[in-house]
Amino acid sequence: EHLALWGGRFASGPSPELARLSKSTQFDWRLADDDIAGSRAHARALGRAGLLTPDELERMENALNDLQVQVDDGSFTPIEADEDEATALERGLIDIAGDELGGKLRAGRSRNDQIATLIRMWLRRHARRVTREVLALVRALIRQAQDAGGTVMPGRTHMQHAQPVLLAHQLLAHVWPLLRDVQRLRDWDRRADASPYGSGALAGTTLGLDPVAVSRELGFSTVVDNSIDGTSSRDVVAEFAFVAAMIGVDISRLSEEIIIWNTQEFAFVKLDDAYSTGSSIMPQKKNPDIAELARGKSGRLIGDLTGLLVTLKGLPTAYARDLQEDKEAVFDQVDTLEVLLPAFTGMVATMTFDVDRLESEAPTGFALATDIAEWLVKNGVPFRHAHELSGECVRMAESRGVELWDLTDDDYRAVFAGYLDSESAPRVRQVLSATGSVAARNGRGGTSPARVREQIAAALHSVEDL
Ligand code: ARG
Repeated sequence: EHLALWGGRFASGPSPELARLSKSTQFDWRLADDDIAGSRAHARALGRAGLLTPDELERMENALNDLQVQVDDGSFTPIEADEDEATALERGLIDIAGDELGGKLRAGRSRNDQIATLIRMWLRRHARRVTREVLALVRALIRQAQDAGGTVMPGRTHMQHAQPVLLAHQLLAHVWPLLRDVQRLRDWDRRADASPYGSGALAGTTLGLDPVAVSRELGFSTVVDNSIDGTSSRDVVAEFAFVAAMIGVDISRLSEEIIIWNTQEFAFVKLDDAYSTGSSIMPQKKNPDIAELARGKSGRLIGDLTGLLVTLKGLPTAYARDLQEDKEAVFDQVDTLEVLLPAFTGMVATMTFDVDRLESEAPTGFALATDIAEWLVKNGVPFRHAHELSGECVRMAESRGVELWDLTDDDYRAVFAGYLDSESAPRVRQVLSATGSVAARNGRGGTSPARVREQIAAALHSVEDL
């Protein structure tokens, strides 16, 4: 049994402890389909090189098809003695095709170039699925931004009231990073689009096989330029892991926002019952678990990335067995995102905002102080002085426990004396509304309704382009 892959030079089989440590079928079996596809392409390359006769090639392809059927219906699975998915599949092939023919397929390839190719195939396919899920979330956010219309809300820096913004603007601030994540995945794919098949164990093959044809059959548009690089670099895997972690971080930021908005104190947003959880003891509770799980799982996604990078950091050039550890990290990331994103999108699509509360909070906390300063600037006051004068208004209002618009005309006349005449000073009231404040922020990228409408169109356009 143990002779299956490397019998010749060994007097005994592996110890049970080694076998248990070495084994990876429990996680790499999910590469079986890609491995069979690779085997098919490799068989044809052997055929073209004259290393399989046309008859042998036909029997080999039939055997691989049968093996695929058995893998699909679960009648063929790894056994205890199989070290990895490749070992298991060779055993399965030999069971079907016999030792004579089945034993020919391994010529000119190594599990090193095989596994490096398979992880790319698998990741490229799943990156497209993750992309679709991220775009679904982006669409849900854009829809919420469209529904928000001209609703204003408190914009915050340092979590303190800063300046009013449109709710749509705030939501769209989460759209752009997610769109960049999708662009990152697209861009990553160009680097992942090179097949290591044909690199052999590290140095290439003597058998005159055509790696370009193999790469085409496996969906790659090119072949790696260096067989050592092809079998031992995992920067392509790590780059995918970074983007997956970044998606986690971007979703976590939005989660934190939703969790805060959903508190009784804020009460800006309500989550749909179908996307909230209750408490086993407190009957009144309705919890934002999806957002919390998203925030929590971002830690896990980051951990997968850092674990992988640390694994790669000290490796000598060319394949070492450490590289087997690349897979679980990205499998876990993909599994995590594929469960997380649909739930998260559902929560975002169904959440509802308390528009009255958002709008009444928007101008409070002296959030219009900058508008006063900028109004003064437009009336010829240098900004440094305008900042001081507006600050005096805030101090006056704060000491009386009122808001800026509660100050009297005489208050404004007194504060602005020396800069504005008594007729002009009270006109500052023109800018003392949240809607006026956002409308005035009409520079490119700003929060005015006209700019935000353009932004929604641009975001939708980006989604179509991706
Ligand atoms: N299972 C290994 C991996 O996932 C590939 C096998 C390479 N083994 C070897 N002894 N060269 O990286």
